[in-house]
Amino acid sequence: MIASSLPVERWQNSWHFLPKQNKWELDLVLPLSYKIPQQYFINAPIQILENFRLLLSRDVYSEGDSQILYDYLLSRREEMSDEFLAMLDPWLEDELKHYEALRRTYHCLTGISFTQMNRIFQQRVHNFEPIKTLLKDEFTILVTLMFDEIGSVYSYRRDLAEYYSYFGWQIKQIGHHLVKDEGVHFSNAAELILLNHSHRLKEVKPLLKEIVKLENSLGQYHKAFFLDHAQEQHRFPHNFNQLIGKVVLARLRLERSPKQSELRQLWQWKPENSNFTPY
Ligand SMILES: [Fe+2]
Ligand SMILES: [Fe+2]
Repeated sequence: MIASSLPVERWQNSWHFLPKQNKWELDLVLPLSYKIPQQYFINAPIQILENFRLLLSRDVYSEGDSQILYDYLLSRREEMSDEFLAMLDPWLEDELKHYEALRRTYHCLTGISFTQMNRIFQQRVHNFEPIKTLLKDEFTILVTLMFDEIGSVYSYRRDLAEYYSYFGWQIKQIGHHLVKDEGVHFSNAAELILLNHSHRLKEVKPLLKEIVKLENSLGQYHKAFFLDHAQEQHRFPHNFNQLIGKVVLARLRLERSPKQSELRQLWQWKPENSNFTPY
């Protein structure tokens, strides 16, 4: 599924940037034939099971949208640096592993077949138009990627505590790997900005403002991988986007990092009078 994005000579040129990758094997964690023991369905609160199913009905396919973004970015490969292209293959490999991991999890929890999931995915309409201002060039794409990946880190961290941890160690382990992988993607994008685009660092803060403004105005997710949290803003504290923007700035050494107690709120916050975030 992954097209090689770089000819050999360009690989050699990109030796000074080696994207990191968290290595793990899906088949060793959640084999295709895995079944969740019945006791977990009995013990998990009914609302947790329902909400987890609903959550996965969206997250499964957003991970699959990575292929669409990858294909789009490769169609603009002439504009991109060797380092950027070198980062894309391991990134896609991880995201497609997330797609398959969530498909298996969703199948275990609902019984929905893989064929049906394929059908649903094929019917999706992907639209880059609403986010095109963020896709101007490699630099703006990398800042958007940082914002999106760190948002996923905190969002999956919340999901891990609220849902994945109720259904046995295999499912919980998937949640842990998702958090870790998205963190590595965030970090790779940061390193590439610092390496190739340091002369544009002053643009990061206004661009983050633009991203937050756009996400707030989108109201829905347009299935182009970026800004998929637009569909679940009610699950997060109102300052979620501002705080993750600060984490981006801190990673690029442009600002101090937010306090740990503030960051903890990103995944521990609950709406008033509720033990978990509703749908
Ligand atoms: Fe992912
Ligand atoms: Fe990611």
